[in-house]
Amino acid sequence: VLIQGRLLIDAERLPEPGWLRVEGKRISEMGQGEPPGKPDAGAADVLISPGFIDAHLHFPQFPIVGSDGLTLLDWLRHVVFPAEETWADPIIAERQARAAVQRLLRSGTLGCAAFLTSHATALAAASRALEDVPLRTIAGRVLMDREGPDALLQAPTPSFFDLPESAPARLSVAVTPRFAVSCSADALRFAGEVGRDAWVQTHLAENLAEVELVRCLFPDAPDYTTVYDAFGLLHRQTLLAHCVHLAEDEWALIAKRQSVVVHCPQANTFLQSGLFDLDQAREHDVRLALGSDIGAGCDAAMPRIARSMIDVAKLRRSTVAPKAHVPTPAEAWTLTTRGNAEALGFDDAGRLEIGAAADLLLLRPPLEIDEYLISRLLHTWEDDFIVGRLIAGRWLDSQIGPRS
Ligand code: GUN
Ligand code: ZN
Repeated sequence: VLIQGRLLIDAERLPEPGWLRVEGKRISEMGQGEPPGKPDAGAADVLISPGFIDAHLHFPQFPIVGSDGLTLLDWLRHVVFPAEETWADPIIAERQARAAVQRLLRSGTLGCAAFLTSHATALAAASRALEDVPLRTIAGRVLMDREGPDALLQAPTPSFFDLPESAPARLSVAVTPRFAVSCSADALRFAGEVGRDAWVQTHLAENLAEVELVRCLFPDAPDYTTVYDAFGLLHRQTLLAHCVHLAEDEWALIAKRQSVVVHCPQANTFLQSGLFDLDQAREHDVRLALGSDIGAGCDAAMPRIARSMIDVAKLRRSTVAPKAHVPTPAEAWTLTTRGNAEALGFDDAGRLEIGAAADLLLLRPPLEIDEYLISRLLHTWEDDFIVGRLIAGRWLDSQIGPRS
């Protein structure tokens, strides 16, 4: 397939007119100027971008997006847990997982790391939802054995995180202890053992009441981050969502372990959790990713999450931290594609280059192509900027490209 368009190779630079060729699941050729033949898709005024990656969200929480009024622990109890309980029915679970995948694709998210529920059938539901759509997904059955409704609590068993045999190739499992509040020491020990050489995802220090509760539940630990570290849960494949309330030592420990901090700016505002300290992350050179955290975040579109990251940094700078770094639109945009892809180990995604995965978006925004292009894309994002979605070399839908 030959696709014409301006190539968003580097968000810092104006995208040049060009073209790329897709063979199989990959980009096989790229060039500037006129395409070498009649294009099968795209046009001179189309932008070609790598698909977005979401480094943290919850598949079962789409139905409760936008349920405002509570802070984290009450919101979990009154809104989230009842919604997750509905996944006890495998038919509902599969239907919701399919809807989640469709919703992500609509917003151009072509890869993600997702929490499911604690049910034994949750991974099977996700597997089936991903059968027809090769969305790159790291997903985990949620481990929780206390501080929640009985219907969601499960003690871990040796096969807790096993994938069904029929799982699609683009689905990998993450060991997913919900957070230290809902996991006993035994559960965290189990997670640390099975997660030693695997993806691990959890929540860390999102809200002050949560941090205080962890202090009470693990009175011997010097801090929240050390609770996870003591069980071997912090390593290069660990994704730590939120990290709003960390002490200096905790940032240093996360940096030392090379774990990834997943900033969820919209969720932190929605649940009144606090202002993420991007400067600490930068000073400690911590690996950073960006997550929608659906259902605490309300937008699935990663450009809107990137915009929220900028908004939060500006608010911090204009109030409590006059020297705070405010990410540029190019930095924020890059995080939604290449940055998140690297954090999730999708090494051939999030980029436009020969050999990279053909996980691509064709965009036709009603915007001038000048130095503010990325800035306007990000600050005015609408999903209908997307006119084509190619995943693993396959058209998902397109008004201007062929369907297959
Ligand atoms: N901490 C533990 N569970 C959750 C969850 O589902 N959402 C958010 N935002 N934080 C959590
Ligand atoms: Zn979350």
